[in-house]
Amino acid sequence: YGTQAISEEGHLTIGQVDTLELAKEYGTPLFVYDTALIRQRARSFIDTFKKLGVKAEVAYASKAFACVAVYQLAAEENLSLDVVSGGELFTALKAGFPAERIHFHGNNKSIAELEQAFDANIGCIVVDNFYEIQLLKEISERRQQKMRILLRVTPGVEAHTHDFITTGQADSKFGFDLNNGQADEAFQQTFNHEFLELLGLHCHIGSQIFDTAGFALAGEKLIDKISDWHKTHDFTCTVLNLGGGFGIRYTEEDAPLEPQVYVEDMITVVKNKATVLGLTMPEIWIEPGRSLVGDAGTSLYTIGSQKTVPDVRKYIAVDGGMSDNIRPALYDAKYEAVIANKAHAPKDEIYTIAGKLCESGDKLIIDAKLQETASGDTLAIFCTGAYGYSMASNYNRVPRPAIVFVENGQHQLAVRRESYEDIVQNDLPLTLKKGE
Ligand code: LLP
Repeated sequence: YGTQAISEEGHLTIGQVDTLELAKEYGTPLFVYDTALIRQRARSFIDTFKKLGVKAEVAYASKAFACVAVYQLAAEENLSLDVVSGGELFTALKAGFPAERIHFHGNNKSIAELEQAFDANIGCIVVDNFYEIQLLKEISERRQQKMRILLRVTPGVEAHTHDFITTGQADSKFGFDLNNGQADEAFQQTFNHEFLELLGLHCHIGSQIFDTAGFALAGEKLIDKISDWHKTHDFTCTVLNLGGGFGIRYTEEDAPLEPQVYVEDMITVVKNKATVLGLTMPEIWIEPGRSLVGDAGTSLYTIGSQKTVPDVRKYIAVDGGMSDNIRPALYDAKYEAVIANKAHAPKDEIYTIAGKLCESGDKLIIDAKLQETASGDTLAIFCTGAYGYSMASNYNRVPRPAIVFVENGQHQLAVRRESYEDIVQNDLPLTLKKGE
């Protein structure tokens, strides 16, 4: 992945930095991000739109991995930003991310969160439901302040890896149904509002998608709807947001497409459809999360205890686990790994990698092919950059890991390791009197 290599001593290096040095300096568990790879991915999305002459915004879906430094990196790479909570918005603003390039998502944004968006005058709010339309009208009228909006719709196309399913009515907690009149009703309620500027439509059809057909179909359905509104209300759609979900390679079984292929295919279809229907081509916005940061992240752990269950399996346990990567336990997600200090040795052994959390399901990889290992070795699990740290918890009061960025032989701490003091900082002593 990216700038990963093996040094002469057989150590895994990332961004020309020895991972063993990183583990020594910053401790483990540690997330290491190859920022050159994040930049490369961002550029390949953005450059493809440029090459095709299509106006676009590539918004980093920051739920995948959010912190001040990654927001600054995203800003540097001319990405826009998808935030889904007041906390992500706050962090982005704190990082100095340009407010006009921030898009705010969510199916239950609070009044305080919406006010926060108005205060910062962010680029756009992606409106999810009728209650939110009501709130936005009240807030914008009270403040006499304009806000740009997209309507999130569910087109009845749901994609996952190689397949997609189409349904007449989507059973989703998100968005207005495109097929049962809800989207039309939302359009009626927002079109031509004094303070709400309706830019267009948004949809997100799934995650870890390896095929472009689902995006194309969803894009066509949205353009059809826009064409209806063009005819009935002379509506001009300026933005079509087709969401994220572009797949990445976690293991050799995964076969994602290159970023440019996803973009090229969706543009071709949308352009054709818009031409046929006599519409001006809208700007295309996308929201990649995983495909920008997923394979740029590597988790480093120190191997501690080992256990053999005779005739069944060998366990090795690491100093982290489901508290820093919930994906195997939650989604049965698969990963590949290497012993970072023996990366040149053959992978002749099979180990199951257990975490240190008090739960039998806390396994990071079942039956991992690995170099023969011993306690004290450093384990690197690849492709943990998306939905790893961002979904981390303090289960068992385990402190969250540190995060290091590496590029071109340099390294820097991006997020400090949590301390035990951090963990108790919001705890208060018991003051209730004991009942007799
Ligand atoms: N846009 C919207 C509206 C989304 O809901 C999502 C992801 C994205 C963009 C970014 O999708 P991506 O490009 O990262 O696939 N925790 C799960 C993934 C949840 C995705 C939620 N929405 C996981 O670890 O696989």
